[in-house]
Amino acid sequence: MEDKGLHSLWMIYGLALVIHTDFAHGDLSYSIPEEIKRGSVIGNIAKDLGLGVGRLSSRNARVDAEGNRKMYCDLNLATGDLIAAERIDRDSLCGKKASCVIKVDLVLENPLELQRVTLHIQDVNDNSPQFKADSIEMEIHESADKGTRFSIEEAHDADIGQNFVHKYDLQKNDNFVLVVDNNKVELVLENRLDREKQQDMNLLLTALDGGSPQRSGTVVIHVTVLDVNDNDPVFSQALYQANLPENSPLGTVIVTVSATDADEGIHGEVTYDFGHVSNDDEKIFSIDQKSGEIRLIGAIDYEETSNYELRLKAKDGLGLTSYCKVIIDITDVNDNSPRIFLKSLNNPLPEDVSPGTEVGIINVQDRDSENNGKVQCSIQQNVPFKLVPSIKNYYSLVTTNQLDRETTSDYNITISATDDGYPPLSASKVIHFSIADVNDNAPVFEEHEYNAYVTENNQQGSRLCAVAARDPDWRQNGTVVYSLLTGQVSDSPVSSYLSINGDTGVIHAVRSFDYEQYRSFKVQVMARDNGSPPLSSNVTVSVFITDVNDNTPQILYPAPEGKSFMTELVPRSAQGGSLMSKVIAVDADSGQNAWLSYHIIKPTDPGLFAIGLHSGEIRTLRDISDSDNMKQNLFVVVKDNGQPALSSTCTMHLLIFDHLAEVPELKDIAHEENSSRLTSHLVIALVSVSTFFLTFIIIIVGLRFCRRRKPRLLFDGAVAIPSSYLPPNYADVDATGTLRSAYNYDAYLTTGSRTSDFKFVTSYNDNTLPADQTLRKTSLDCIEGFEDADVSPKVGPSHSKHTHV
Ligand SMILES: *[C@@H]1O[C@H](CO)[C@@H](O)[C@H](O)[C@H]1NC(C)=O
Ligand SMILES: *[C@@H]1O[C@H](CO)[C@@H](O)[C@H](O)[C@H]1NC(C)=O
Ligand SMILES: *[C@@H]1O[C@H](CO)[C@@H](O)[C@H](O)[C@H]1NC(C)=O
Repeated sequence: MEDKGLHSLWMIYGLALVIHTDFAHGDLSYSIPEEIKRGSVIGNIAKDLGLGVGRLSSRNARVDAEGNRKMYCDLNLATGDLIAAERIDRDSLCGKKASCVIKVDLVLENPLELQRVTLHIQDVNDNSPQFKADSIEMEIHESADKGTRFSIEEAHDADIGQNFVHKYDLQKNDNFVLVVDNNKVELVLENRLDREKQQDMNLLLTALDGGSPQRSGTVVIHVTVLDVNDNDPVFSQALYQANLPENSPLGTVIVTVSATDADEGIHGEVTYDFGHVSNDDEKIFSIDQKSGEIRLIGAIDYEETSNYELRLKAKDGLGLTSYCKVIIDITDVNDNSPRIFLKSLNNPLPEDVSPGTEVGIINVQDRDSENNGKVQCSIQQNVPFKLVPSIKNYYSLVTTNQLDRETTSDYNITISATDDGYPPLSASKVIHFSIADVNDNAPVFEEHEYNAYVTENNQQGSRLCAVAARDPDWRQNGTVVYSLLTGQVSDSPVSSYLSINGDTGVIHAVRSFDYEQYRSFKVQVMARDNGSPPLSSNVTVSVFITDVNDNTPQILYPAPEGKSFMTELVPRSAQGGSLMSKVIAVDADSGQNAWLSYHIIKPTDPGLFAIGLHSGEIRTLRDISDSDNMKQNLFVVVKDNGQPALSSTCTMHLLIFDHLAEVPELKDIAHEENSSRLTSHLVIALVSVSTFFLTFIIIIVGLRFCRRRKPRLLFDGAVAIPSSYLPPNYADVDATGTLRSAYNYDAYLTTGSRTSDFKFVTSYNDNTLPADQTLRKTSLDCIEGFEDADVSPKVGPSHSKHTHV
């Protein structure tokens, strides 16, 4: 029945639902009738805030009910409508308060913003006036004077204002009229009662409210006419006030009321009872009928109800009553811990967020009031985060430093909240942050540079060395891939020399290296991670090729057998120890592999000539005697010092002569044209050249003897080479015997023997060669190539680069 009445009421409201919005204080404010249907639209937030509907959801707008109080309304993000989400009963919410207001927080993020929405709940006449009981018993002495007043407990109506009790109607009767003054309802005796005429009577009292439609409630006043009872009970105070801390133990006496009645006996015996109290209040308070003690019998919570108002009734033995009011104020006790709510959190957090970025929103609440509800919020030290107080009880969690996932990949942040109560209560909450990776570390090679050593003639595909780089980033951001940077090694691409395994960094030789072509080269290796964009770093890998004895010594002088036919002329007058000639050989290898030694194998006369072991100088061992054979052949072996040693051989022809005229064989030897004139010219020329050189060599030997310690003598006592063998650059030998030319090539330096040092010359001139081509152009080409091939920086002779690591 009640529902039906409400429904019809709603029909009326539904037709003219006037919801009115007020922006007077910048806050949103809506008026809505109580008992509005769930799902009804209260207002359009998007429109009233001037935000697009899309912005509402992008800013994560939401309605925030404080603590665990009911969510009376909700936000429809699709339309921007604020809708009713719960039953809103003004009468239970606000009781008798004239204005009933619900405050709702609307939280928007980015930036964090709080909008207060105020809902004014309008009363609807949904409650009828009601008397405490269906009937009121009154006992009135027949002697009561005209004009005597009898209090009637007023009717109650949960509605307010217009909808509250508006007027009373008393059923027409002979004795009483109704006087309503300041909400105090009294029956006034107009005509005296006569117990003999009427012993009792029933009067119907109707209370009407001012609502539309009007609602009413009735009570039957049953008057019994008695003999004597002169005085009403009188309360010592019209209003009792008491303070009671919440959570007080049950049984606590809150206040004791007392009323006195001037009558004697049963007429003066006062009993107490509650007047109109709600069902809820009846479960909390009790009154001792005799003593008037009001006790606590239920739990009271300041946060639920902060004050109570009770009507009390004192009644004497014969039913005369009077009323008083008791107001109980509940005082707050710090019984609620602060509560921490995480409103939003950016998790995981990229490590490159700049310091000062808001990464979370925290809301703290404490249901207590005053200091008991004042909350201080803090965060532990030593984390790169801080709390910044924002609007009301909101805090932003912001970063204070640059984050680095490689140092700390996650954080447990403890937020503590403590209230100002006594004793204080506190709460804490742990927030876990993971830090997400950003590709901020380039791979770093473990070594500054890498050296690889490989013996020449290596196998294709043999492993040279491995490079390794570390990248502490996560997954693909830290996955390193190796590659060779494109470049040239002596005009060929790097890739034709080396290859690298992209995953392992192992470097392989692509070809077989030849020490005689290049002794070392450098390549750049890049390590790159797989991030986007990728980061990289480069390193230099130097490849050093070590020598293998793979070149036989090459004899430059005398010319190989068969290709030419040279004869050294030896004067018979030469004394023992004289320098006669010199075998000149080179070896393209280096170090021990090119340290040459010279041996005579098949001498015509074993005791006559000896060869310098390392100088190749051929000297007489004794004076040449007349009995010595005119033609001497020396078979010379030139060996290097490699393991195993390689060797070459040559034959040195020597012709001993007394006088120039005694050189008949020359004709045969030189294969000249058979013109006697030409022959004699040639003979004269040859002899004079030989003589000149013999003299020259003696001077050189003398000089050398004086300057023994001077390094690097040219062909130390190089008697064997006619001056015409030397290139023009070398014609000029200074006093120290050092070559002045810049075009020299340091083919080899022995460990000790300076005498075997020699300089070889690149720019031989064909014109300086004799007609029979002692030095063949092909061998020169080889040497030139040899020199050009050294692509590494020129390494000084005494460097220890051949030592293997
Ligand atoms: C954070 O807490 C979790 C769970 O208690 C734990 O597994 C993790 O190791 C903690 N991290 C740090 C950085 O303390
Ligand atoms: C790698 O770094 C980029 C930013 O540089 C980031 O977007 C990506 O998520 C990272 N990858 C991993 C697996 O963490
Ligand atoms: C590595 O070398 C390449 C090619 O020369 C260049 O593009 C790159 O910037 C270099 N990287 C670093 C870290 O120097």
